[in-house]
Amino acid sequence: MAAAKRIGEPVLEVRDITLSFGGVRALLDVSLEIRAREILAIIGPNGAGKTSMLNVINGFYHPQEGTIAYKGRVRQRMRPHEAAEQGIARTFQNVALFRGMTTLDNIMTGRLLKMRRNFLWQTIHWGPALAEELEHRVFAERIIDFLEIESIRRTPVGQLPYGLQKRVELGRALAMEPELLLLDEPMAGMNVEEKEDMSRFILDVNDEFGTTIALIEHDMGVVMDISDRVVVLDYGRKIADGSPDQVRRDTAVIDAYLGVAHEA
Ligand SMILES: Nc1ncnc2c1ncn2[C@@H]1O[C@H](COP(=O)(O)OP(=O)(O)O)[C@@H](O)[C@H]1O
Ligand SMILES: [Mg+2]
Repeated sequence: MAAAKRIGEPVLEVRDITLSFGGVRALLDVSLEIRAREILAIIGPNGAGKTSMLNVINGFYHPQEGTIAYKGRVRQRMRPHEAAEQGIARTFQNVALFRGMTTLDNIMTGRLLKMRRNFLWQTIHWGPALAEELEHRVFAERIIDFLEIESIRRTPVGQLPYGLQKRVELGRALAMEPELLLLDEPMAGMNVEEKEDMSRFILDVNDEFGTTIALIEHDMGVVMDISDRVVVLDYGRKIADGSPDQVRRDTAVIDAYLGVAHEA
């Protein structure tokens, strides 16, 4: 249960980040931390800089100012594959899967980082490589069980409804065995039942594997239900940071959401 959960020290510290695209300031002097084993929600109106923040954290974007420390070490210009190797996995606002490939094969792509043996080595010594591949398949099947998607394991993901595609994408991220999982609008476009399922899986991942999670979400009901802490961005600035209850009562947050200038 959430009450028994022990939230630890920060695993990721973002300090004074500024990110611009030409004249557009996506992030302005933003600092935040993500603490071990917490579920942090990042919220804010469209264009607030939420996706940009995840892109900075996993090395897609390189900010002009500021620093990021991961597990106590300040890192310079980390690239996405390096972030992944160090245990940061993510999903995308618009599902980014291989549409022609099955659920199982998409989840297997999340194991690629874990596969030690390269292709040349495999053609020479196919025995051990085969055994290793089998191990990864077993792991992928465990994720499929966990996410309750056995019935679609052989279905090309392009044929799946959107809600299930989002679940497969979560599966691929979990296949990387991340320490820090970044989810960009994991429930966008879902119906109520699909949102409940996804909320439960996110809570289970956090609870059973101790995975630290930062997620962007628009549904305030979901945010209040599953997050330990909430950071609010507005026009690239952080305007609030606190418990769901504190943030819900914050006047700057209420203004940002009810303000007139936020037609996306
Ligand atoms: N690659 C990019 N090139 C140019 N502008 C960008 C890029 N990514 C984001 N932006 C701009 O940065 C601002 C924040 O965008 P984004 O981080 O996607 O917001 P959110 O996810 O909160 O809706 C927007 O004005 C957006 O147009
Ligand atoms: Mg976004």
